[in-house]
Amino acid sequence: MCGIVGFIGHGNVQDVLMNGLEKLEYRGYDSAGIYLAEGGQTGHLFKEVGRIANLKETVDFDLPAVVGIGHTRWATHGMATKANAHPHQSMNQRYSLVHNGVIENYQALKTEYLKNIQLNSETDTEIVVALIEWFANNESLSTKDAFKRTLEVIEGSYALGLIDKENPEVLYAAKNKSPLLIGLGQDFNVIVSDAMATIDVTNEYLEIKDKELITLTKDAVTIEKFTGEVVQRESYIAELDASDLEKGTYPFYMLKEIDEQPTVLRRLIQSYQDEQGQAVFEADLLKAVSAADRIYIIACGTSYNAGWIGRSLLEKIAHIPTEVHLASEFAYELPLLSQQPLFIFLTQSGETADSRQALVKVNELGLPSLTITNVKGSTLSREASYTLLLHAGPEIAVASTKAYTAQITVMALLADAIRASKGIEASFNMERELSLVASVMESILAEKAAIQTWVEDSLMETRNAFYIGRTLDYYVSMEAALKLKEISYIQTESFAAGELKHGTIALIEEGTPVIALITEEIVGAHTRGNVEEVRARGANAIVISMQEVARVDDQFVIPTVTTALAPLVMVVVTQLLAYYTALGRGLDVDKPRNLAKSVTVE
Ligand code: F6R
Repeated sequence: MCGIVGFIGHGNVQDVLMNGLEKLEYRGYDSAGIYLAEGGQTGHLFKEVGRIANLKETVDFDLPAVVGIGHTRWATHGMATKANAHPHQSMNQRYSLVHNGVIENYQALKTEYLKNIQLNSETDTEIVVALIEWFANNESLSTKDAFKRTLEVIEGSYALGLIDKENPEVLYAAKNKSPLLIGLGQDFNVIVSDAMATIDVTNEYLEIKDKELITLTKDAVTIEKFTGEVVQRESYIAELDASDLEKGTYPFYMLKEIDEQPTVLRRLIQSYQDEQGQAVFEADLLKAVSAADRIYIIACGTSYNAGWIGRSLLEKIAHIPTEVHLASEFAYELPLLSQQPLFIFLTQSGETADSRQALVKVNELGLPSLTITNVKGSTLSREASYTLLLHAGPEIAVASTKAYTAQITVMALLADAIRASKGIEASFNMERELSLVASVMESILAEKAAIQTWVEDSLMETRNAFYIGRTLDYYVSMEAALKLKEISYIQTESFAAGELKHGTIALIEEGTPVIALITEEIVGAHTRGNVEEVRARGANAIVISMQEVARVDDQFVIPTVTTALAPLVMVVVTQLLAYYTALGRGLDVDKPRNLAKSVTVE
């Protein structure tokens, strides 16, 4: 979703902004722009619709800029046009602003203050920059006070970077709900919505809290509360490896990330187990989870799908009743909560606005929470009672793959640790089985060519497809369908196999692909019955099964792993299937249309 980079000080401002915006490309955007100010009150605005490459062609890299702000926009208010792209400027072009988030009361503010101001875009952001100029002019305020005054009246989510071209020695910033960091350098400072975008210029960062006002010069950063009280804060070193951001020899990040899964899984076993194979989780965390009479897993999209597997693991292994909720629904209709609930927030990015909104609610109720995330220091991690990291390395492709399997693995390890702490007998050795899972993943990854051929024969021309399965296979089919639809644009739905005949079977036509997942002996026979039902109606039924329950004519058979962990291997086949379908259709696998990596609006 939208990204921000700002730079003040010595260095080529254009290079830092453009490199930063390129690093943020993966998050999804549809237009981009930068604003540069020179020492002598001269400013330059560059904006383009489409790829950063378009913008790069128009930017003058030789301008002697001393400060600049850049932005990638994912349209919310107004279409993806040049006029709506950021930075936005005040009427007299004194102020230029970039904004991530949504200003909820922008219409009311427009009516109250800006009736006579000419606006050039349909965005909520332009209202903010127009207000800053309005307060500066009408209430004779300094830029800082006009900015503060504006922050006091706007409502909603925001990360903001502001330049006053009359004083280009200062860069202003503020945030509320949306992520923004300060990067510290020698003779320069930066603002950035994701440290990854500026990791090649600095690894030292300062956190900004909601409703603080930041002023940056090339050699100083001041953080103030709105009351004027100055805040001292320690910086931290971001543990990001710039080389993790490279694709290497891979054509797309998604394939690289699919391939990384066995390594991530082994890394997680090492991170959460000691040399004796005993789980190592913070004692307080284990105590809090063990004490829960019910766990509520809250998440969106792929993380939500992983939540269903987590539910099964927590119930079967740790014996704790568990529910799974969509974050975007949860905050607005709380279920009747148990006496001692614990909330698990599953979120790769740790920044998803819907999940954060639910966490705010949980915190208001004073209830314990655990965020399982890939991003250390992310908003949901900071605001939850406990955090567990996914250790998956940056996930760049919009379609999540390694974060899904990492989330399941962390929940499996956690469930096993709770089991042990409660003295419940183990039905399998978690470490050994997870190691086997990593090896089976590798054997599936070695079959890419077969999967690609199979995709070319079965999926390339279709407009719709179905995944079916029962219990765990059904939960995996939810993720399999999401993956296929989001990157190949084939309308794909997942169904609990038993439900097909209750309505959906009406959609089956001659040749419709129906992919059945079969890992569980106990339900496998029933799912096979459902496969026959769709075949009898002309479907092109395809079976992906586990060796133990396989039949000779199944299209893809994977080595057997323990049933509870089967989703970890089953899903890999479906990730590859989605990848090769999108590839075969000539689509941009890493940046599917309309999607953003980190969804920071509700
Ligand atoms: C799909 C995908 C999304 C995310 C969802 C939640 O491939 O990536 O569905 O899973 O937007 O994001 P996080 O996990 O960052 O909260």
